[in-house]
Amino acid sequence: MKENKYDNESFFKQYSQMARSVSGLKGAGEWHAFQKMLPDFHGKRVLDLGCGFGWHCRYAVEQGAAHVIGIDLSEKMLNKAKEINNSPLIEYKCLAIEDFTYEPDSFDVVISSLAFHYLESFDNICSKVYQCLTTGGSFIFSVEHPIFTAQSGQNWYVDEQGKRLHWPVDNYFSQGNRTTTFLGEQVIKYHKTLTTYINSLIRSGFEITALIEPEPKKTMLENVPEMQDELRRPMFLIVSAVKK
Ligand SMILES: C[S@@+](CC[C@H](N)C(=O)[O-])C[C@H]1O[C@@H](n2cnc3c(N)ncnc32)[C@H](O)[C@@H]1O
Repeated sequence: MKENKYDNESFFKQYSQMARSVSGLKGAGEWHAFQKMLPDFHGKRVLDLGCGFGWHCRYAVEQGAAHVIGIDLSEKMLNKAKEINNSPLIEYKCLAIEDFTYEPDSFDVVISSLAFHYLESFDNICSKVYQCLTTGGSFIFSVEHPIFTAQSGQNWYVDEQGKRLHWPVDNYFSQGNRTTTFLGEQVIKYHKTLTTYINSLIRSGFEITALIEPEPKKTMLENVPEMQDELRRPMFLIVSAVKK
């Protein structure tokens, strides 16, 4: 099932107020790690799956990409992308990630930031990405970490005073949909195990080049006291792979 939550008026409004929406990549907690995983963009044809406001598309162009296609299910997200991250080198398309098809050898780099946990199957995406990439091409994506997605509550276990005791992990091997609460709304996400992410890549023919469970930046840890809790469990998983 494809849920287009980002076109929901109140959800979109909330999302638009997040730091990553207002300040772009520097407001995204995992960007410092994601950026390190990216290849040289000079002259590259780039596809961004679930591009949202288009911050990564713009970054690719600023780094010398020849052409970027950003696809997203949400018209509201794409309208904003066209407004704030526009470039003659970027083409935004309203399309579900599950439905994209491109000829073999269409792209040199495929990226996706925090979109795949909204998709039921990762296997399908992997083989489609593999097919449309050129040999030697790069695939880099981030998702909410399987430890973060296992429980639909996606919240700390607290005591009566509200003190955070631990992060609950349960039903880890029961993959599938979770009705979560995000920005005060019910949102469907799909939990997948680490095995699923890694083996789907391997089965599709990719060579995995790096995997990061990013920790907050040192400055964030120093300036925002609550950030210390982000060292207690991983929130994101970032993987880079190459088509051999
Ligand atoms: C958390 S936002 C991330 C946006 C952007 N990649 C970023 O990191 O700033 C997730 C995006 O994925 C998009 N999305 C969710 N499910 C999708 C699907 N099935 N097909 C295409 N886009 C989808 C949403 O509309 C939203 O724009």
